[in-house]
Amino acid sequence: MRRWGFWLALAGNLAAQGMGGGASALIWPAQGEYIGSSQCALCHPAQAKSFRVNGMHRAMAAIGDCDILQQHPRMTWSDGPYQYLIEKTEGGYRYSVANGAERADATLRYAFGQGKAGQTYVFEKDGRYYESRVSYYRELNGLSLTVGAQNARPADILQALGRLMSPNDARDCFGCHTTGARRGNALQLEKFENGVQCEDCHSPGAAHIASIVDGKPKPGTIRNLRGLSAESTNDLCGSCHRTWETIALLNIRGPNNARFQPYRLTNSRCYDPSDQRIACTACHDPHAALVTDAKAYDSKCAACHNAGNTAIGKRVCKVGGEGCVTCHMPRVEAPGSHHLFVDHWIRVARKGDAYPD
Ligand code: HEC
Ligand code: HEC
Ligand code: HEC
Ligand code: HEC
Ligand code: HEC
Ligand code: HEC
Ligand code: HEC
Repeated sequence: MRRWGFWLALAGNLAAQGMGGGASALIWPAQGEYIGSSQCALCHPAQAKSFRVNGMHRAMAAIGDCDILQQHPRMTWSDGPYQYLIEKTEGGYRYSVANGAERADATLRYAFGQGKAGQTYVFEKDGRYYESRVSYYRELNGLSLTVGAQNARPADILQALGRLMSPNDARDCFGCHTTGARRGNALQLEKFENGVQCEDCHSPGAAHIASIVDGKPKPGTIRNLRGLSAESTNDLCGSCHRTWETIALLNIRGPNNARFQPYRLTNSRCYDPSDQRIACTACHDPHAALVTDAKAYDSKCAACHNAGNTAIGKRVCKVGGEGCVTCHMPRVEAPGSHHLFVDHWIRVARKGDAYPD
């Protein structure tokens, strides 16, 4: 394992802040005032238009705008004695659970996840937030247990309905799936944007706008994010996709960690912290849709794996062919997720090999 020095420093730092949560709180942009992505779109129409088709844009929706629920106005599922129902009513989407003797219900408030893999619902009771115990999964085109819910039997009917989130849990949940709901270490739901938007990555924009007096903004008023190294990009994207350090600290082992791309990529022999050719942004345009044509990634590999690169020397592919990622970035099912995540630990993956970790 690598970089233990940093790991220890981070552990100390998190402990000092009383944090053990999923979010990498160290680089959370908290300074300044949010102005909203519709403002950015006025002067940066190209990025605004292409970002609309990126899945991050739809990482969370208010329940009334949720496509999946509109397409599935009634969904049922059962787990042992518990019968689940999500149903469209005049007052919104009612979510209930009954076990013959008891019943609990709530009106859903927020839909988390664009639904490419799955979608989980959040509701409120007595001023506290709960995560639904069942989620929608694309692969099933219906409901099943929320990831993590299989680990604990509910002690009562309310627990069967959902998991009560601690204030920190709720803050982190909204922090990664919205823009501006998390302010520093606090959660506020008065004013924020659904989904990951411009100011999540670029930092709040008020100072940038204020500095534009002659058509040119003052440098340093907004993060330009250009030319970041692989390591700095891992830190930026990893503030939500989780950094190597976060996964090591939380000790998440096995195929469960396939969904944490910065962690997996860092473990690959292709990874060089100072090289931009292996940064997340070398393969993913943060303002455009995820590219799903495997061949489109060949040129990204060839940036390093080419005949002229004497540093890699003899390591050339004897199997070869187009679509390098189909063999070298295998798809792995994270248990309970009903989704095959692309493993970012680029490697020679042979049939029957154990999952490297
Ligand atoms: C009133 C117009 C205007 C608005 C609104 C605006 N920008 Fe800009 N922005 C500019 C101009 C002008 C530049 C300089 C462009 C150049 O030098 O090519 C710029 C530059 C940038 C840069 C590059 C900064 C650099 O140092 O190179 C980023 C990133 C950026 N804007 C993001 C945003 C985001 C995010 C928002 C919304 C929060 C936003 N802008 C809102 C006009 C605007
Ligand atoms: C503020 C949190 C946040 C940051 C920062 C962030 N992401 Fe994401 N990203 C998400 C969430 C949440 C999703 C899941 C969207 C969904 O499926 O609902 C996601 C999804 C994605 C996807 C899949 C999109 C799709 O259509 O399936 C890619 C690719 C991605 N992110 C790349 C990046 C890269 C590259 C960076 C850094 C430049 C980055 N992300 C930074 C939160 C973030
Ligand atoms: C540290 C940031 C972070 C936190 C905290 C977080 N998420 Fe996510 N979430 C992500 C990212 C990033 C993805 C995209 C995963 C991918 O496609 O690689 C995601 C994906 C999802 C998905 C899509 C389905 C899936 O399995 O990928 C759902 C649903 C979801 N999150 C719900 C939640 C809920 C509910 C909470 C709070 C209890 C939460 N998330 C907390 C970052 C976060
Ligand atoms: C997931 C993180 C992420 C989100 C969300 C995001 N950006 Fe960016 N943006 C980046 C990165 C990374 C770069 C640097 C790209 C590069 O290296 O060329 C960048 C660069 C830019 C630039 C400078 C382009 C240049 O080459 O001068 C502008 C302007 C910009 N973004 C505007 C926006 C606007 C407007 C939005 C919202 C519609 C937005 N960004 C959303 C990550 C993001
Ligand atoms: C060498 C190229 C490469 C690099 C570098 C890379 N990715 Fe990917 N990524 C891919 C490929 C290929 C896919 C699969 C696209 C598809 O769905 O067909 C993918 C898919 C994803 C997805 C969708 C999740 C899923 O499996 O459904 C997310 C999120 C993502 N990448 C985030 C990141 C982040 C964050 C980084 C930086 C730590 C990163 N990627 C670096 C090639 C790359
Ligand atoms: C930043 C440069 C860079 C990029 C981009 C890159 N690699 Fe690598 N890759 C390397 C280096 C360096 C090694 C290690 C060579 C050695 O140890 O001799 C390596 C090793 C490998 C190995 C052998 C790994 C092992 O564990 O034995 C495979 C397979 C591989 N790369 C495939 C790919 C594929 C496929 C892509 C594109 C998805 C890619 N690489 C992108 C630099 C890169
Ligand atoms: C059909 C599956 C497949 C495709 C497509 C493929 N590879 Fe491979 N690759 C393999 C296998 C299997 C090995 C291990 C060969 C051996 O040594 O037995 C390998 C080995 C490698 C190695 C390591 C060589 C060494 O000596 O350690 C590199 C680097 C590599 N591939 C890069 C690539 C690149 C770049 C591409 C795309 C141009 C690519 N591969 C396409 C299956 C594939």
